[in-house]
Amino acid sequence: MSQLAILEYPDPRLRKIARPVTIFDDRLRKLVSDMAETMYSAPGVGLAATQVDVHERIIVIDVSEAKDALHVFINPELLSASEETIECEEGCLSVPGVYETVRRPAKVRVRAMDEHGRPFERDCSDMLAVCVQHEMDHLEGRVFVEYLSALKQMRIRTRMRKRHARQTALT
Ligand code: NI
Repeated sequence: MSQLAILEYPDPRLRKIARPVTIFDDRLRKLVSDMAETMYSAPGVGLAATQVDVHERIIVIDVSEAKDALHVFINPELLSASEETIECEEGCLSVPGVYETVRRPAKVRVRAMDEHGRPFERDCSDMLAVCVQHEMDHLEGRVFVEYLSALKQMRIRTRMRKRHARQTALT
């Protein structure tokens, strides 16, 4: 397994729309396992392939306390979303240090495939529902800060630019 580099907002590659996975082979399974390792070591609760500059519809999520419940969603599709919504403070490995409240449907039903190409459907609620919607947004080239006000987005971009300037200065 190996860790992958994570793209940081506002990198334009985060805006790419991911294409469906069609081949379920060892290369895919290696990518899924590298994505899981990258997510766990960050540490984070979810990662979309877009964030590691692979523009394929692959998501890994683990919202468990013990970090022993990995969910893999390949080619995820939203089948339904509840009218009931929840507000949750979200963060993102591509926007380090930024946590902002986003309102989303509280429950979603998702159809996807596992890393062996086996289809499944899952009802997601609470953290898992928030996380799967956040990660599915990444596959559409959307980062959670885009739900915030223009002013907040501008502040976040300024903050990220300063962070990247500091990083460049250090190397
Ligand atoms: Ni994210």
